[in-house]
Amino acid sequence: MALQTALQDTFGRRFHYLRLSITEMCNFRCNYCLPNGNDCNTLKNDLSITEIDTLVKAFAAMGTSKIRITGGEPALRKDLTDIIELCKNTPSIKKVAMTTNGYLLKRDAKAYKRAGLDAINVSADSLDPRMFAAITGRQKLEDILSGVDHAAAAGIDTIKFNTVMLKQFNYKELGAFFDYIKHHRVTWRFIELMQTGDNHNFFKQNHVPGNALKDVLLEQGWQRIVRTKDAGPAQEFSHPDFMGNIGLIMPYSKDFCSSCNRLRISSQGKLHLCLFAEEGINIRPLLLAQDIEKTCDVIVNHLQSKTISHKLTNGFTGATRQLAMLGG
Ligand code: 5AD
Ligand code: SF4
Repeated sequence: MALQTALQDTFGRRFHYLRLSITEMCNFRCNYCLPNGNDCNTLKNDLSITEIDTLVKAFAAMGTSKIRITGGEPALRKDLTDIIELCKNTPSIKKVAMTTNGYLLKRDAKAYKRAGLDAINVSADSLDPRMFAAITGRQKLEDILSGVDHAAAAGIDTIKFNTVMLKQFNYKELGAFFDYIKHHRVTWRFIELMQTGDNHNFFKQNHVPGNALKDVLLEQGWQRIVRTKDAGPAQEFSHPDFMGNIGLIMPYSKDFCSSCNRLRISSQGKLHLCLFAEEGINIRPLLLAQDIEKTCDVIVNHLQSKTISHKLTNGFTGATRQLAMLGG
């Protein structure tokens, strides 16, 4: 059996954090991700709960302590609460988080909490209902904000929002985000739009470098929060006049990859060492066979080929057509 500290790459980075996609399907049509919704090639043969159980046990045996459930949209799976529970009940897994578009939070936040969910990241690309619908294809902003209030009331106390900065859309509305952050104890993360196989033109028209926003924050008195040793690539800022914090996720900045602490599993059971790498390796047969030991061996071996950085600045997007494939 692999050792507790087995998940280390050749550059000394440790991976205690697993991002587990449980479906590629999504019911939103974010213009930077799935502008036409899921296409008919979308794979529907998601990992079963038994396969997920083997996978989670293997990662836990190798020192993983945090799992983030992603999609597509994880809430499209009817067994989502069972998956949360399974992760949370696996010894060594201390924290279970989920990234969601939030459309079922209002109905299910309590059930998620009961199942053991510790944290959520909710995508909210605008605070203006019309702009929100223009970006996501759905008139759901009010539902989602009230869903987040339900999640807070249910006791899910780590709540973060994700906004992808888009030059021609939400970048003109930063003021509305600041108003919200002033009065809510949340972390609002602004993400640089990433180029994927499917969004080349959109990327050219809409990418805004995060450093532009960082300069604004520093001018307005926001201060960098000191990073803990195992913090991921987000840079966080606080301000004495604001209840919430701001995070910046800048994959195009120098050194972004040096603090990489996560591995990814696709909903089809492929291990990806980076969001923007080649195909990933298929470990599904080992999961099907419920072979925890072999699963550990294959993951540890493959990790040795993790490269120092992605090549996004050269426009290399690997096999990633859109992030719904892997959950960001
Ligand atoms: N660039 C940056 N962020 C993206 N996301 C999806 N596609 C992209 C992209 N091309 C974000 C979603 C979600 C998170 C998981 O990833 O908005 O919040
Ligand atoms: Fe769905 Fe998330 Fe992609 Fe939007 S970004 S289409 S919510 S998977």
